[in-house]
Amino acid sequence: MRLLVTGGAGFIGANFVHATVRERPDVRVTVLDALTYAGTRESLAPVDDDIRLVAGDITDAELVGTLVAEADAVVHFAAETHVDNALADPEPFVRSNVVGTFTVLEAVRHASTSKAVRLHHVSTDEVYGDLPLDSPERFTDATPYNPSSPYSATKAAADMLVRAWVRSYRVAATLSNCSNNYGPYQHVEKFIPRQITNVLTGRRPKLYGSGANVRDWIHVDDHNSAVWHILERGETGRTYLIGADGEQDNLTVLRTILRLMGRAPDDFDHVTDRAGHDLRYAIDPAPLRDELGWKPEHTDFETGLRETIDWYRANESWWGPIKDAVESRYAEREG
Ligand code: NAD
Ligand code: TYD
Repeated sequence: MRLLVTGGAGFIGANFVHATVRERPDVRVTVLDALTYAGTRESLAPVDDDIRLVAGDITDAELVGTLVAEADAVVHFAAETHVDNALADPEPFVRSNVVGTFTVLEAVRHASTSKAVRLHHVSTDEVYGDLPLDSPERFTDATPYNPSSPYSATKAAADMLVRAWVRSYRVAATLSNCSNNYGPYQHVEKFIPRQITNVLTGRRPKLYGSGANVRDWIHVDDHNSAVWHILERGETGRTYLIGADGEQDNLTVLRTILRLMGRAPDDFDHVTDRAGHDLRYAIDPAPLRDELGWKPEHTDFETGLRETIDWYRANESWWGPIKDAVESRYAEREG
């Protein structure tokens, strides 16, 4: 199989490429990535000899058309992904997430006139908006879209384009909406790596508001094994929700990080809350488990977190050079 992976130099994409090279020697991987601030060649260094990396933008119709024409399948990860950045400047989110997905869809539509091309579109549970705290309710594929942030609104728009291209042009696409990922190679602007690297650099971790907000954590390798399940067994046009029963409030996650790193439970700062901060996300992954037989393997959050902390400890050369700049930007917002 010739597989095109957009956004393969980012957090989830790089882990997906690593796992694919490790576990599927019959797959020839091409990565298309604009190498924005969030994507680096270093994240693909361990598989440098096994893949082709094309530095380019998913809004470049000619380039995307050429690469899709060479592929049997496309996994579309490329996107702007950080809510705080979207609040500060939404324009790149509209461009990459909406126009970029449109460009990928058009390339798949045109290539599909001469051969079969399978597309999997990677999305987020944030398109469903948020749930009340302390309710048993979880997102399902019947939950109405209700995005809160410029990030989730652009992901929702992209999802709608994919659904329309399936219906109108019979593009052979599946979609997935996954909960919050953690693991190696995640940018230090995101919650878990930010707090780990704050401790490692002698800074105090930063908690937005009271820390009561709940996220449904999944290890990145479990997200990626689900993507492979859907690519191989999923039904065209279907949306699959990916989650691993990992609900935790932010304060609890932060306190676990502090304990695992030998710090006192209150050794952190409360900072200005995020505008429009979604309260709670939670996924019901039953159809994925029951229909496609997928199961998460990294179900012990504390073990996964300990391994993630060890990875950041051992790979300061990967995140160290950008840490100060990320924290300076945050300091302006957090006061
Ligand atoms: P990331 O920000 O770490 O990586 C995104 C990658 O896309 C980067 O390598 C970047 O260079 C590339 N990119 C951005 N704009 C591009 C463009 N215009 N052209 C080409 N490449 C471009 O993000 P991530 O956390 O790895 O997320 C990957 C995908 O998974 C996204 O679609 C995101 O919405 C989705 N997702 C993420 C999470 C999560 O918890 N991180 C959860 C559910 C879904
Ligand atoms: P984040 O990793 O940005 O993911 P998302 O907002 O897409 O869920 O944030 C996860 C949660 O952590 C979210 O509720 C915001 C909160 N948060 C903090 O409390 N402190 C921080 O420094 C960051 C970056 C996030």
